[in-house]
Amino acid sequence: MKVQGRAMRSVWAEPEGTVGIIDQTHLPHALVTPRLTTLAEAAHAIRAMRVRGAPLIGVVAAYGVCLALREDTSDAALTHACQTLQATRPTAVNLAWALEGLRRVLQPLPPAERLAAAWAHAAALADEDVAINRAIGEHGLGLLREAWARKGRQGPLNVLTHCNAGWLATVDWGTALAPLYLAHDEGLPLHVWVDETRPRNQGASLTAWELGQHGVPHTVIADNVGGHLMQHGQVDLCIVGTDRTTARGDVANKIGTYLKALAAKDNGVPFYVALPSPTIDWTIHDGVRDIPIEQRDGREVTDVSGRLPDGALATVRVTPEGSPVANYGFDVTPARLVTALVTERGVCAASEEGLLSLFPERRAAKGTGT
Ligand code: MRU
Repeated sequence: MKVQGRAMRSVWAEPEGTVGIIDQTHLPHALVTPRLTTLAEAAHAIRAMRVRGAPLIGVVAAYGVCLALREDTSDAALTHACQTLQATRPTAVNLAWALEGLRRVLQPLPPAERLAAAWAHAAALADEDVAINRAIGEHGLGLLREAWARKGRQGPLNVLTHCNAGWLATVDWGTALAPLYLAHDEGLPLHVWVDETRPRNQGASLTAWELGQHGVPHTVIADNVGGHLMQHGQVDLCIVGTDRTTARGDVANKIGTYLKALAAKDNGVPFYVALPSPTIDWTIHDGVRDIPIEQRDGREVTDVSGRLPDGALATVRVTPEGSPVANYGFDVTPARLVTALVTERGVCAASEEGLLSLFPERRAAKGTGT
């Protein structure tokens, strides 16, 4: 996508063997693009959420292995790199998927051939992510056109989204936002309600910035507003991303997604989840029971960061000193609350049958636990 008219991805390989990222902790106030040069820097970037979003952390992890192999291409170094990166964030399955794929390619190779193979594999993962998201965009666009037709092609189509599932959460295009970009580009009048998404405000900081850069009309709302808007006919559909989708279509996504899905169900508002297939964890069914939920530093809840009128950035405390806090990063929305899943292969019911209809090759693996 474009930033100030210039095409950018959220991560890229530099010719000198380092990795460029957009440091998302500075957005929307500044576009900062540091270079990652070591495994430790890559792991820190993921843990500190300088890069975040399920697909993006998978790709950055792959590049993190490349950075590790610059120093040492031994079996021990490869194992250490994969373990270090895997330990950064627990909920998104893309991380494990990317690292397992890389390991499968690299392990059988002689150490001298591993570095070049790792860079090639990481670049291919990045390009694959872009292609997948573009395809999700095309399939989701069909749903938006239908919703617009149902609305009698009158007024803007009001879409609510949560967190950031845009191009910053992927290598490019995004998952939930990809259809919105395509719809906007073809002239469908859109308006996006952007949940602020406390505690880290990925909606207010990142989604609003992305949509603004692309010229998509949007309004940032506090996290508690969506239910009210839905009761008053102000939301035509919801679309969100996911960090892990189970074989039966339960979806883990940023904390607060479940409450939006409940409100959508109560108000007859379609609730779509956009996902690239690497986000599907075919080994589990019951997401509430089996998806590990990340718990993060309480300071994300006690403190709020932003820009002061003089332009300086500041972090302030909003809770009383001494009040305990809890900081759950994700929740699980059961498949029964999801109207449909939007994948790179098409749109399907949020159910095991629905997913298998799009990924029939998984029928053979069913029951083998793979
Ligand atoms: O904690 P984050 O910011 O990494 O969480 C991101 C989300 O929850 C996104 O909605 C999800 O990764 C899907 S993005 C393509």
